[in-house]
Parts: sequence; C-alpha cells; structure tokens
Amino acid sequence: MAKFKLRIFAIAVLHLCCLFIDLTNCESPPKLEIYPTNDVQRKPVGKPLILTCRPKVTDPSLVTDLQWKDSMNNTILPKPNNNYYPLYDSKGRRLPTVVGRNQPPMYTETLPGESLALMISTLTPQMEGKYYCTASYANTEILETSVVIKTYVSITWTDAPENQYPILGTDYTVKCEVRADPNPTVDWMRNGDQIRTNDKYVVETHGLLIRNVQESDDGVYTCRAAVIETGELVERVIRVEVYIKPVITFLPTSMEAVEGKPFATNCTATGKPVPEISWIKDSTQQNVATADRFKVNPQTGLMTINRVSQDDYDTYTCIARNDAGVIDSKTKLNVLVRPTVFELYNITGVAMKEVALTCRSKGRPAPAITFRRWGSEEEYVPGTQPDDDRIYLDQHFDNERGESSGTLRISRSVRTDDGLYQCIARNKGDTAFKTGHITMEFPPDFSHMKDLPPTFSWEQRPANLSCLAMSIPNATIEWRWNGKQLKNGFDQYLKIEGTGPRSDLIVTPVARQYYSVYKCIATNVHGSIEHDMQLKEATVPGNVQAAMPRGLTATTITFEITGPATELGLPVTAYSVQYKEEINPDWSTAQNRSWSPDSPYIVEGLKPQTAYTFRFAARNQRGIGPWSATRTQSTPKRSAPEEPRPLHSPVQNDKEEPVVVSPYSDHFELRWSVPADNGEPIDFYQVKYCPGVKVSGTWEELAKECRSTDVIESTSFEMSSLSGNTYYRIELRAHNAIGFSSPASIIMKTTRGVDVVQVADRQVLSSASIVGIAVGGVLILLIIVDFLCCVTVRMGVMAAMCRKTKRSPSEIDEETKLGSLYGWRFPLPYCSGQLVKEPPPSPLPLPPPVKLGGSPLASPLDEKQPLHSPPGSIKKDSSLEFDGKFVHSRSGEIIGKNSAV
Ligand SMILES: *[C@@H]1O[C@H](CO)[C@@H](O)[C@H](O)[C@H]1NC(C)=O
Ligand SMILES: *[C@@H]1O[C@H](CO)[C@@H](O)[C@H](O)[C@H]1NC(C)=O
Ligand SMILES: *[C@@H]1O[C@H](CO)[C@@H](O)[C@H](O)[C@H]1NC(C)=O
Ligand SMILES: *[C@@H]1O[C@H](CO)[C@@H](O)[C@H](O)[C@H]1NC(C)=O
Repeated sequence: MAKFKLRIFAIAVLHLCCLFIDLTNCESPPKLEIYPTNDVQRKPVGKPLILTCRPKVTDPSLVTDLQWKDSMNNTILPKPNNNYYPLYDSKGRRLPTVVGRNQPPMYTETLPGESLALMISTLTPQMEGKYYCTASYANTEILETSVVIKTYVSITWTDAPENQYPILGTDYTVKCEVRADPNPTVDWMRNGDQIRTNDKYVVETHGLLIRNVQESDDGVYTCRAAVIETGELVERVIRVEVYIKPVITFLPTSMEAVEGKPFATNCTATGKPVPEISWIKDSTQQNVATADRFKVNPQTGLMTINRVSQDDYDTYTCIARNDAGVIDSKTKLNVLVRPTVFELYNITGVAMKEVALTCRSKGRPAPAITFRRWGSEEEYVPGTQPDDDRIYLDQHFDNERGESSGTLRISRSVRTDDGLYQCIARNKGDTAFKTGHITMEFPPDFSHMKDLPPTFSWEQRPANLSCLAMSIPNATIEWRWNGKQLKNGFDQYLKIEGTGPRSDLIVTPVARQYYSVYKCIATNVHGSIEHDMQLKEATVPGNVQAAMPRGLTATTITFEITGPATELGLPVTAYSVQYKEEINPDWSTAQNRSWSPDSPYIVEGLKPQTAYTFRFAARNQRGIGPWSATRTQSTPKRSAPEEPRPLHSPVQNDKEEPVVVSPYSDHFELRWSVPADNGEPIDFYQVKYCPGVKVSGTWEELAKECRSTDVIESTSFEMSSLSGNTYYRIELRAHNAIGFSSPASIIMKTTRGVDVVQVADRQVLSSASIVGIAVGGVLILLIIVDFLCCVTVRMGVMAAMCRKTKRSPSEIDEETKLGSLYGWRFPLPYCSGQLVKEPPPSPLPLPPPVKLGGSPLASPLDEKQPLHSPPGSIKKDSSLEFDGKFVHSRSGEIIGKNSAV
C-alpha cells in the first residue's frame, strides 16, 4: 500500500513537474494503447490477427515488463526460438509438445518502438475473450489496457458446385450450401433478376428447387449469401446446364444377315450430353465390342460384323448411356443360313402299305422342305396332293434351331412309286437338293407274260419255256407239270435252267404228252403267283385265203394277199408265188417269188398281153403250206409308160393347190421314182417348167418363159437359174418307144431370199430380164398407140377386138380349143384374130393331139380313167396329185374283163 501511495505520489509529482517543466508533455499521463484501437475487435475465424500494444509515455525506456495476458490472466509467451512451443487445447490444457515448423496459435512478438504484438496465426472461435496488455512504468506505475476479441465465421460455400446438371423433366435443386456465423441469408438471381419462390422455383435452405426442369432452364444462376451482422456479402455464380436422358431413336426390331457375309446395323440415340452406345449379345451378356469379328462405334452406334456366323443369331441389346441416364432396347439378328440337307435315307416299302421318305435340313430361316420325283419338274405340295390323294407331304419347322423336316407319306403304295425322289430344302438364302430312293417291294407278277404266244415245237426240237417273274425281292421259281413238281433229274426230257427270277424249262417233246401245259410258280416274301405256259406242236401254215390283183401294167401285177388264219399257230414268215404262162401246163418250170409279209406283193418282168397262172402259199418256221389261190391273169398291151411319181411332199394350204416349196430361190432339184414301162423300156423323161402367177386363185402362166429338157438315165433334174419367190408349174413325163406317159404335174415355189440378188448378178439372167423389160416397154407403148388408134381412127388391134365380138361361133370354138390346149390364158391382153392364128411362142413342143385321144395303143381302161388329162383341165382336175398312175380297178372283174381284150 505504501508502495502504491508512493507511485501515485510519484505520478502526481511527475504531473506537477510537467506542468512546470514541459506543459505539452505533461498533458497526457503514461498509458498503453492497443492497435487497432477498437475496444472490441470482431475478426473472422481462420484468419491471422495482430494486435499491437504500445506504451504512450514520455520516456519509453522506463517501460518494463510489457506483457499480453489472456482472460485467464495467463501470460502469452513469445514464439520460442527452438520451435518448441506449447499447444493448448480449447480448455487451456497444455498439449504434448510437437516438433514442427508451425506457428504456435498465439504468441507475442516485440516490435520496434517498444511495442509488443499479440500474434494469432489462425483465429479460432475458442480464442474469443478479453486480452490484457500490461506494463510497469518507471518501476512504480502499472499500466494496463485490454481489448475484447470477438470472432465470427465468414461466408463459406460448403456445397455449391459452380457447374450443375439437372435432368430434363425432373425436379432439381440447384445446390448452394453456405455456412457462416452468424447465420447468413441466401437469395438467388438469374440474369440480374431476383428469384422468388413461385410455381417454378422454391428457394430452399440449401438450394433452389426448380420444378420440372426444361431446357430453357439452362443458364447462369447467382447464389448470394449475406450476413447482416458482419455486412459480408458473397456471390457464387452457378452454371446450370440441363441434361437430357438418352432416347434410342433408331433400332430395327429385327434384322437379317447372311452367313459368311459382312453385316452392319445402327443404333442411334439422342441425349445430352451425346450418349455413348454399346451393344450386348444377350445370350452371353458379352459386350460385342470385345468380340473378335465385331466392331462398335460408340458415338454413332454402328455395329459391324465382318463375317457373320451362325452363332451370331441372337437378341442384341443396344445401350445408350450418358450422365443423365441409361436406356436400352433389344433387337433380333436373324442369320440367313443357306439350307443343307443332312439326312435323307433310302427306304424300302412294300406295295399296298404306307411308305414314308423323310428329309431333314438345316438353315435359317428353317427351310421349307418338299420333294419331287426324279425327272419331274413338279413338286409335291404340303398336305394331300390334288392329283394323287395317296400322297401326303408333312412339313415341320423349328425356327429357333434352324431345322426342319419333311416327310413324304405314300399310303397304299404301288410298284410305280419305286424310284428316285429329290428332296428340296428351300429358304430365302438358297435351295438345297438331295436325292434318295424308294425301293418298292412287291409280290411276283406275271402280267408282262399274259399276252405271250404259246411256245411251239416240232420234230422233237427242244422248246424253251422261259418264265420271268417281276418282283422285289427276286422271286424263286418252281415248275409243275400235271400237278407234279418238276426237278432236274425227274424226267430226262425236262430240264430246268435257273430258279428265279427267271427260269427256263427246256422240253424235248419226244412224245405227244410233252405238248402240254406247264405251270410256273413264282414266290417271294410278299406272295406267290402262278402262270400256265403252253407247249404246242407247230404245223405248216394253212391255205392262202385270197390273192387279188390290185395293180396291173403291161409287165407287172400287184397282188393283195389274204393269208391263212394263224391265231393258233406259228406266224407266217413269207408268202411265195409260183407263176407260169397259162398255156404252159407244167408247174415244175414255173417262176418262183417270195415276199416277206406286209411288203408290196409285186410280180415284175411279165410279158405284155400274156395270160399267166399264179398260185400262192404261206411259209412259217415249220415249213411251207399248201399251194392254193390259183388265179389266171392277163397283162395288158404294151403302151406308153406309167406316169412317173415326183418324190416331193407338197404343202397343202387350205383351199389352195398343194405347193412344193423349194429351199432355194434360184434352183430346185426335181426327183421322181421310175414308173412301170408298160412293156417298152423308158428311154427318157421330159421335164417342162413354166413360171406363173396366181391371179385371184387361178393360174396365169408366162408361156414364153417355159423351159423343157429331156433327162436320160436319171431320175432327177436340177432346175437352175430360177427366179426367187416365184411359182413354177412342172410337168414330168416318161417316154418309151410307144410314147409319153401322162404328165405328173406339181406347183413349186422358190423362196424369196438373199439369193434373189445372186440371180440378178448372173449375166444370162440379167440380160434376159433386160430383154424382158425392153419387150414389155415396147408392148405397153404399142398398146397405148393401139388404143389411141382405136379411139381416133378405129384402126388397130383393139378396134379389131371390138369387131371380133361379132365373129362366127366356129371361130370362137377353134380359139377355145387352142387356149385350153395350153392350159392358161395368154398373159397379155392381146386377143386379135391374127395373133391367135400364129403358132404360139412356146419353147416346149406339146405332144401331138393323136396321143391324147384315140391312140391305137390305149386300152379301154383309158376311157374309164383317162391316163392323160387335157392340160386345160389342170386347174380343176386331180392331175396335180402325185400318185404313180397305175391302172387302178375297184374289183378283179374289171381287170378280168379288160384282160380279155
Ligand atoms: C441312296 O441311294 C443312292 C442311289 O442308289 C445312293 O447314291 C446314296 O448313297 C444312297 N443313300 C444312302 C443314305 O444310302
Ligand atoms: C430260253 O429263252 C430265254 C429267253 O428268251 C433265253 O434267254 C435263254 O437263253 C433260252 N435258253 C436256252 C437254253 O436256249
Ligand atoms: C435279282 O435278279 C436280277 C436278275 O437276275 C439280278 O441281276 C439281281 O442281282 C438279283 N437281285 C438279288 C438281290 O439277288
Ligand atoms: C421253183 O420252185 C420249185 C419248187 O421249189 C422248183 O422245183 C423250181 O425249179 C423252181 N423254179 C425256178 C425257175 O427256180
């Protein structure tokens, strides 16, 4: 207390002194001041802080013991040099010393100017309180001052990311978690406008709730936090970008790939950000991007397979994924696999039972299976066949396994079902074939032997009774005779060769009894059948029933023979004729001739006008039958040859005359057969041919261009230098010493064609045609002149024609005869009497009229059917037929009557 009084005294003295000594200095007593000077220091947590305590005295050197003390009156120590410093927990307990370079949380530091600073490296809320700064002055006076530290927590963003991504269509809270002490207030702004809670937005404690986020909610939001007490105001700019969940926009529901070929497909998806696409093979759950033959582009969704295999047949999931979500969709990949037939067994069926042929095939899609018979184009249809209700086609598909089967069922099968069958497996990719066969087993069958004739034998010739049984499997054959089974050795005259399916019974008929019926019995697993085989004794043929002369010329007779009945015997192998002149009674000198059956029975080389006797017999393997059907026949007189017969087949157009078409335009080879010469040898043939035109169905021939040739020792003639596309009428006659035959006539047409040009090229023809054209031109000129003359001065040919209508009938008659002789009208309209009287310009001399009519050589037959029709009648008559013109008779009587001549 004394000391205290002393101090006060000293101070008082001091003040007094000051008053006297130094007025200015003495105005303020010594004290301590803390900077900053506020009594209460409000400072943010976590920040460093310095508080400086400075004595305010006249003589700083008198200040000692300057100290900082906390509210518990503990002195705050300076920072230790060795870096060891005591740490205190929140309750002021000293913590174990640690080595570190860290600053102690609170220490003092002497500053120049006798100041002592209280240093806080990081302000914590525990450091709140009152701190004192004390000192002694002049050893007497105790100076003290204090300051209160208050802390506050400044605004910190605890969870307020600067980029946030709400998802379209959802409710999203834009996070803005903020901490401060005292508590802050938070509000929101977008584009400078404050956001208030409304339908769209809800301002929440820790964020801004946006309801049903839309793309328009993209933008920059400002979260603003303020602390009223501290006046702190902080803004955080938050960028909001709306994300969109992925949507798969394209993925086929099913796809088709071909085995062995490359394949590609797309899965496209939209979303924000752009989704990444992956493909999963469902059966294995494998991401195909890791598989060998696959490639996936995650951006475009393109999946490619470089060579499709059968295993790729599966369901695939396309997954689109982005930060907003994941979506997937499935698709099926069908792999087209070309069909293959992997099973088709050959089968054996039994007649009248069901037989089934099954075919199995692989492929994708499972192939449709059908069949067809080998060699037929027609395929069986599923189900019952419309044309054969015994046949049913069954089809089965297993699309999952890519297999199918087809079964062809034939109920009530028959032998003809035996054969090759083709299985056809078909799908979109291709068609496969395989052939198998159905073997039909059936009981023995002898139906092929039904109509065989009996076996014949004679004079102990061994007979071969051959029995063949049709059957599958092969039948065995045994023989019975008179109810007894035959075995080799049973009878030396009966020998069996073979036991089946063919067996020959060789019978040597040494006695009547062997001409008998033998039973052939065939047996297999499916049945047994027997067949009677007859051995008959053969005889020579019976009488020839009739032999009628049918064709008669001066040197030949053609017969029609009716043979003997042969139903019960051997067939006729030949017919024989013997003939002699009637006056000769001796048959041993007769002429012989044989014909095989069904050939023309012609006797040639006869003398004309001679009576012959003929007799006939039939011959078979056994021998010749009796001579019978004796007939006497006379040959007619010698005469001109028969009409030769052209060897060409004409084309018969309806209603028109038959026409032979030449394959060439400029030549034609006429061929014919040799006719009977009627007693005198043929010395030549005459061929005459004329071009003609058809005018409304009738012939107009160009007589001037007719040509005629005699052909010797040949039966053909090459007509050359013809015009193309032209009709020719050809007349062919045979000639002998007696005269010409009637003409065989045909119409021949040359083809048009390229060789028309060749014809024109030929010198002869072209000059001939030039002459023709010149003559035609002159004639036309003449007609014109003549017409003018007729009109003007009534002179000339036409004028004569006009007058001619008043001619006498005899004149007309004569003209008609001549006209008809040439068979066609003159081609030019010249009909003047003078011209008619001149000889016609025909290059072919016609046969003299005596030959046409009352020839002394003509037989009475000629009158019944004229050998030579007048040429004028050709258009209507049958003279265009090409038959060889023998003398035909309807009955033998006519011939007999004629032969008497
Ligand atoms: C079926 O028969 C045919 C012809 O006879 C033959 O080529 C084929 O190998 C046979 N198939 C089977 C499976 O026996
Ligand atoms: C019996 O006839 C058959 C069929 O014609 C023939 O194949 C066979 O060789 C003949 N047998 C004898 C011994 O002539
Ligand atoms: C059946 O007979 C025929 C003709 O003799 C013969 O070629 C064939 O080999 C035989 N078949 C069997 C299975 O014996
Ligand atoms: C014709 O046949 C009979 C009997 O076969 C014979 O006697 C005769 O000599 C034969 N005549 C001629 C000409 O060959």
